[in-house]
Amino acid sequence: MTRPVSVLVYHPAGAEDYARLVRVPAGHDVAVHACVTESEAAAVIAKTQVAYAWKLPPVLYGKAAKLQWLQVMGAGVDWALPEVPRRVVVTRAPGVFGPWMSEYVLAWCSWVTQRLETYRAAQRERRWIEDVLPARLRGKTMTLIGVGDIGREIARVARAVGMHVIGVSRTGQRVPAVERVYRPGYLARALAAGDFVVVVLPLTRQTRGLLDARALAAMRPGAWLLNIGRGPVVDEAALVEALQARRFAGAILDVFATEPLPADHPLWGLDNVVITPHVAGPSTPEELAPVFNDNLARWLRGRPLQHVVERTRGY
Ligand code: OXD
Repeated sequence: MTRPVSVLVYHPAGAEDYARLVRVPAGHDVAVHACVTESEAAAVIAKTQVAYAWKLPPVLYGKAAKLQWLQVMGAGVDWALPEVPRRVVVTRAPGVFGPWMSEYVLAWCSWVTQRLETYRAAQRERRWIEDVLPARLRGKTMTLIGVGDIGREIARVARAVGMHVIGVSRTGQRVPAVERVYRPGYLARALAAGDFVVVVLPLTRQTRGLLDARALAAMRPGAWLLNIGRGPVVDEAALVEALQARRFAGAILDVFATEPLPADHPLWGLDNVVITPHVAGPSTPEELAPVFNDNLARWLRGRPLQHVVERTRGY
């Protein structure tokens, strides 16, 4: 008698919500284990062939002798690589996070141009400030650092409101909705062109610290930096210094080198910084389930998986 395939669904904030949406094609014997703690996962990891997980503790990989495939529940895979054994196929979930993150980006760009803070402050003081006008996003330039599936969706939405969109990518290859894509060698040129610079890069050996003091110095005095990729892509000490010196208008930050952002971090105290707690692209069980279920059906039938991470690229 064949043993059932063992699927570990791991999410510290509620694996059950993900597990109940797992659909097993008829004719396959699959046991789904929903785990929220490391010790629960440790109890089943040795027999697990498939993991569907958010931040599976790396210590478990040493005991995961049968693990063949890891489907990550988030946008990034840096918490899984490089620790997960090389024989394990890691898959992403493209298409899920772009719509969330493009709304986040558009909302905060509009927060700037519509001067929401200014009008709300005036309201609190019962002041009628008709001489202060909002600005338009139309005609402004967005520089996207990273033009993968999330960046492209942001570009599409930005173009829809009339913004110019340029980008920077590893290859410099043209992508839809982005008017011009630069290679990393032209990063400073792309930064200097942006009214809004949106960092949406994965964290890899190549991207860590890419936006260093020199790169930040290339930004326009009136520009805003939005980081929704990974904190360590931007040199945080250099960023704090640039913001304190008001070398550009400000920053809207969803990701940080250390999360949660420590209470004594200087970023908290800067009035030209907006801090959101890594919520620009939330994972929801309903949106991830179709991606996992489609791949599960492929895996059970021995067909190639979709959205496989390229280890050498790191995403
Ligand atoms: C991530 C996410 O990977 O929030 O950071 O999905």
